[in-house]
Amino acid sequence: GKDSLTADERIQKVCDLLQTSVPYYDWVGFYFKNGDKEELKLGKYAGEPTDHEIIPFGKGICGQVAVSNKNFVVPDVKAQNNYIACSIHVKAEIVVPLFKNGENIGQIDIDSHTEDPFSHEDEVFLEWVNERVAEIL
Ligand code: SME
Repeated sequence: GKDSLTADERIQKVCDLLQTSVPYYDWVGFYFKNGDKEELKLGKYAGEPTDHEIIPFGKGICGQVAVSNKNFVVPDVKAQNNYIACSIHVKAEIVVPLFKNGENIGQIDIDSHTEDPFSHEDEVFLEWVNERVAEIL
């Protein structure tokens, strides 16, 4: 039964469900703080493989969220100068930090092939998803 699933298996299901359910969620993944290092490490994801398994704090949208502890909504990735491109198809991105006991331990990262697709509702929804994920970590 589902009680025997590991945290990684559950997170994979979350990625798969989000990516297949929301038409403008083309790549859905979780990055987590890599031990004591000032960097993020890619966890589970759904979508095309990415070269960016490790992202230093401060670099790209993800690295900035690791430092700011704030949601980062990017309606147009071409307008960002501190941005790490994963695919030429990506037009927009949203990154929402994941807190466990008040600590920023990672984030959900979503890439979209649609222009300017993310609203406040996505932020509220993804904050809720992260709270549920934090409970299983
Ligand atoms: N675009 C991200 C890098 C991660 S890929 O989107 C999966 C960034 O700028 O941090």
